[in-house]
Amino acid sequence: MKIAILYDVNERLHTTNWSLAWEEYCKKNNIAYQIVNPYKIEVVKTLLKFDIILWHYSNYSFKDMLMAKNVLNTLEDRGKKVFPSFKDAWHFDDKLAETYLLESVEAPMPKSFYYYSLTELDKAINDKKMSFPIIAKLRGGSGSHNVKKIDSVEELRKYGKQMFTSGLSSAPSLMYKASSNIKSSKNLKIFIKRAKRIPEFLRSLSNAKKFNIERGYVYLQEFIPNDGYDLKVVVVGDKLSFIGRNIREGEYRASGGGSLFYEREKVTKEVIDSAFKTSDELGFKCMGYDYVVNSKTGKGIIIEISYGFSHQALLDANGYFDRNGKWHEEPLNVPYEIIENLKA
Ligand SMILES: Nc1ncnc2c1ncn2[C@@H]1O[C@H](COP(=O)(O)OP(=O)(O)O)[C@@H](O)[C@H]1O
Ligand SMILES: [Mg+2]
Repeated sequence: MKIAILYDVNERLHTTNWSLAWEEYCKKNNIAYQIVNPYKIEVVKTLLKFDIILWHYSNYSFKDMLMAKNVLNTLEDRGKKVFPSFKDAWHFDDKLAETYLLESVEAPMPKSFYYYSLTELDKAINDKKMSFPIIAKLRGGSGSHNVKKIDSVEELRKYGKQMFTSGLSSAPSLMYKASSNIKSSKNLKIFIKRAKRIPEFLRSLSNAKKFNIERGYVYLQEFIPNDGYDLKVVVVGDKLSFIGRNIREGEYRASGGGSLFYEREKVTKEVIDSAFKTSDELGFKCMGYDYVVNSKTGKGIIIEISYGFSHQALLDANGYFDRNGKWHEEPLNVPYEIIENLKA
């Protein structure tokens, strides 16, 4: 069995990249592996010599988003075991695609609205189809950068007009990232630790600046009132773990805020069951679900899905739930688990 791990050794890996953990796993277990640069000519020919192909590509890398899916889908089509697989990732970083997919299995999700012309949007507004506040999202992005609360019909009309004319940039805002870091830092030590990561963020940002202007659609979700947090719930095979994320002070968004908690009681049996069910029905090898728990009904609602997330933050949960909802005191190392499941 030969494993290929895809990245360019001349580019600095983001600290949250899973490739380092994959290498560590192979070394520990005496498994032969090779680092392969995915950006080279004839990369597919090179990779056809391997059995398992792993690539933790990121939505912050423009070139990865251009070609990673093409390379991995080609290899999967030729019978290779790849991660992320087509099922895990054809919809990656496209919230509209995720919405259609989740609707197809009636997963618990917010009522979603998508319009592909200003006329359709205007008609829906005039028919009073939606209530306010409502959440508007761009298809791509992470860390809450492209998620916006809209409070009135007037504001929605303005947003719609922009999305059907000049559009909106999908590049992350450095100011938003920096301000949420400072607001959520309870003490100086944490703040300094986070600030050290800013050069890394600046690098991601200069890269992200290449990102598209988004236009030609309006994507809206019903607003789910929260109890001060959301949950990143991860399902890999028969194991499920979580990261609790406090919302940023004075607003409703958790993603990217950096204030985490690990109270297991917050993960209800209903959330565990719906996450396993969705992964089973959609054939995911590894999926991160963002759940907002409705503070009025207690129901867990999936607001987005993504195959990638911080595996280090997940290790801090110090365990996982099995399919019966029983907790096991053994940290869930997602990159390790992915190789174990692929070679099984
Ligand atoms: N429909 C919604 N109702 C209430 N809060 C939401 C809704 N959708 C997203 N949020 C909040 O906004 C944050 C960012 O939204 P998300 O769709 O996960 O975007 P991102 O890709 O930036 O993480 C979430 O972590 C959640 O706290
Ligand atoms: Mg999210």
